[in-house]
Amino acid sequence: MSVPNSPRTAALIPAAGSGTRLGRGPKAFVEVAGRSLLARSVAALSPFVDEVVVALPAGMDLPAGVPARAIVGGETRQGSVRRLLEATEAGTVLIHDAARPFVPPPVILALLGAIPATGAATVALPVADTLVRAEGQNWGELVPREGLWAVQTPQGFRRELLLQAHARAEAEQYAATDDAGLLARLGVPVRLVPGDARLFKVTTPGDLALAEALTGHVDGGWLTVEGEKK
Ligand code: C5P
Repeated sequence: MSVPNSPRTAALIPAAGSGTRLGRGPKAFVEVAGRSLLARSVAALSPFVDEVVVALPAGMDLPAGVPARAIVGGETRQGSVRRLLEATEAGTVLIHDAARPFVPPPVILALLGAIPATGAATVALPVADTLVRAEGQNWGELVPREGLWAVQTPQGFRRELLLQAHARAEAEQYAATDDAGLLARLGVPVRLVPGDARLFKVTTPGDLALAEALTGHVDGGWLTVEGEKK
């Protein structure tokens, strides 16, 4: 039951991963130009929502000055999102990986605008590279890239719909790497909203170098790129 003054839109940030591939401890706490990935993600989304809830590894606290509420995450990303969904009463939720610290404001606005149509939308980027399925160490089958999109976050949903999809996935022991996939599996149409290369997920040490290099552009207030929507 929703009560008066309950938040209408919440940003839910799974940040309870161990960051094994990066090798620098829990990834959300890794800093880029003096600010953690988590603090950057929260700051990007908070102007657009009524509340921000973050799932953290057990025993860890939110860094000082991060305007969010924290809960303990689950064993998997999916488990962390399930707990986050149960920790808010908001009707609309934006799920965003802490590991994607740069979220262009026009992308968030476009995502929010796309949710009402079907109750589910995700940011995604049309694939620009040639795609090939490897056979061992070698070039195997070419995969036509036409119509293929790489799925990013944030993803936006009516909370009730996503809760149902999580309950079904748990009952059927189905694991997915994102939330839009859980709804698509149930036949719910998921809108694709054009994303941005700057929304990449920091996964490897090389990604961290890329993120460091981008901070001047982002921390300078998203310096305008020619042809970009403001
Ligand atoms: O490991 P990967 O980069 O795919 O994780 C995506 C996001 O899910 C990260 O922000 C990570 O902190 C989060 N996560 C989580 N709970 C887990 C595992 C990952 O919140 N148990």
